[in-house]
This record gives sequence, C-alpha cells and structure tokens, in this order.
Amino acid sequence: MFKTFQYFSPIEFVFGAGRVVEVGKRLQAKELQRALIVTDEGIVNAGIVDVVEAMLSDHHITSERFTDVKSNPTVENVDAGAKALSEFGGDVIIGLGGGSPIDTAKIIAASAANKCSAHDFMTGKRTIEIPGVPQIAIPTTAGSGAESAKVSVLIDHTTGEKKGVFGPGTAPWITVLDPELQVGMPAWLTAATGMDALSHSLEAYLGLAANPFSDSLAEQGMRLVADHIERVVDDGSDIEARSALTIASALGGLAKEQSGLGILHAVAMPIGYLYDLHHGYLCAALMPATLDYNRSAVLAKTAWVARLFGVEDPDDEGAAAAAGHTIRQLNDRIGMGTGLAESGVKPDDHQRLVDDAMNSYLLKNNPIEGTPAGCLAVLEASL
Ligand SMILES: [Fe+2]
Repeated sequence: MFKTFQYFSPIEFVFGAGRVVEVGKRLQAKELQRALIVTDEGIVNAGIVDVVEAMLSDHHITSERFTDVKSNPTVENVDAGAKALSEFGGDVIIGLGGGSPIDTAKIIAASAANKCSAHDFMTGKRTIEIPGVPQIAIPTTAGSGAESAKVSVLIDHTTGEKKGVFGPGTAPWITVLDPELQVGMPAWLTAATGMDALSHSLEAYLGLAANPFSDSLAEQGMRLVADHIERVVDDGSDIEARSALTIASALGGLAKEQSGLGILHAVAMPIGYLYDLHHGYLCAALMPATLDYNRSAVLAKTAWVARLFGVEDPDDEGAAAAAGHTIRQLNDRIGMGTGLAESGVKPDDHQRLVDDAMNSYLLKNNPIEGTPAGCLAVLEASL
C-alpha cells in the first residue's frame, strides 16, 4: 500500500563544469545589478570569491562580500547580513561556499524584507510574509545538501535555541552545481562532506517518510557516492568523480527535504555542537552503527545499500548484517576511520549527548523508535 505524499521543488538546478560563469548572464536577464556575496574567509582564501566577482564584473554587476558566517549559521550572522544587504542596496544574494553560507543567505533575504531579526522567525513571533530578494546557491563542497533545501537551521547563542527556519522565498532561485569550484577541496574534507551527502540519502531512504520519489533521489545519490567517493578522495582533480559527488549532494538534499533524516543526524548534531567536530566526519563515524541499529526494520533496503558498497551475499539477512562493517571498511579507506573516542568524545558526556539527541524531531522519522537506549547504543558502537 502506497502512503500519501507530495513533492515540490522550486529550485532550478544548473549542472556543469565551468557553468558558474552563466550566473552573470542570468542576473543581467533579470536586470539584477547589485549582488551581495555571502561567503566565509575560507572561500575567500581559496580564491573562489575572486572568480565569482570577476564573472559578475564582466556583466557589469556590482558586488559586495559579506564574510561573517560561522560554521553553524547564527541569528547574529543573519541579522548582520540583513543589515549589510539593506545598506548595500542589494537586489540579489549569492550564497557561495559550504552549507553555512548558503543557509545564512536564505534567511538574510527574508530578514531584510520583513524588517525583523531572524530570532523572530525562530520563535514564531513573526512568519516570513514577504519573500526577500532572490538568492543563488553556489556550493563549493559536496555534502550539506543546503543547495537543495528551503530550510535553514539557525542557532541563537544567547539563548541556546536552534531551529529550522523557512518560508516564501527561502529556497534558492538557482543552484549552480559546478564541480570545477570543488577541485581544490582537500581529501579529508572531500571524504567528510561526501559521507554527509551519503548520510542524507541513506536516512531519507530508510526513514518512515520514504516514498517512491525520495527513494529514486536517494538511490541515485547513494550510487553516485558509492561509485566515486574513493576516486575523488584519491585524486581531487578527477572532474568526473567531482561531478558525481556534486550531484549526489544535491540529490541527498532533495531526498532529505522530502523524507527527512533519522537517528544518525539526531546523535550527530549534539556531538558536533559540544566538541566542534566536523559534521561530515560524524556522519561517517555514526553510519555503521546506524545501519546495524535500523536493519531489522528495513532489511531489504539495508541489504540494497550493502550490495551497493560491494557485499555479494544474495540473502537479504546476510547482506544487511554486513552493511555496517562494509561502511566501516570504506571509512578506513577514505580517512574517516577515526572512532569518536579518539576524536575526544568523553564517557562523562554520553548521557548529556543522548538527552540532547532525544529532543530531536528527527527521531520520529527513524525506522526503529529512537529511544535513549538506542541513541546510546549507536553512540557507543561508534567510539
Ligand atoms: Fe548532514
């Protein structure tokens, strides 16, 4: 029996090596003339902002940089960006970088247009009534899936709140998937972000809200990662493999926007916040235990994943049982094999991390009920 679902994405995806140069022409066609580039210092130092600025200048578009973006976007970053947008008189925003600049850009436009703090959107005091100026997402890493989503998870450090914010106009107008922008990404970051992309497709695929649309996105997302992640970690200039991961990230983003995530992300989030560990690394580290924890409820799908990564057992029970181990071996080969204990996760914090994970709405979508014992089991099996 098929469950009911709906699918909609307002985003225009533009894929191709070198296609970032088309952005200027697209802005000209819409008579947009002043672009605020939301990015971070790492992207500036990598020289990618220079490339985008030169392309805009070639099309007579004035641009300004806003680089005050933290790795988990904050209310303060968004409010400062909204002020910068208003002062600059920007008529378009470009989110350039990993997930954080792209997510920050989404809400800057809304805050500026609705003349309020992003905090008001988090608390529900205000809703996004007026769509802001259009934004373009240009990912320079392949993993977060922010380029595919309308939602942006913000943090308010003064109150400790974190909440997903979205509304009219928060989805990118255009997402440019240009693998050439990712060629300089170091191997470790390539592996970590690639495992984040994989985890989005995986959790959307195994989750209770999975449906045939999200399954098709997720299966192709996982296939592209399985076939190319080792190649691109080995040779970052392999444009074919970079292309695969760039597309896989966008597919994972669409799959998770459609069908949500689960226990892996519920447990990964508090660990990431407490220890400032890279989210993609945490996804890699928690994935084997997640597969083991969930497999009895989603046996055939877990077996499918295991076979995608090389398990040959024709029996679903046997193949599914090997899934976690297979991902553990992959982690070792791509430099993601460090256990959580080795990364600094302390036994004294386990209970606190589990309590925090239990507050996550993501657990409601997990194929097996996300209990405190379950979260602890996933955590402890990943040490
Ligand atoms: Fe993620």
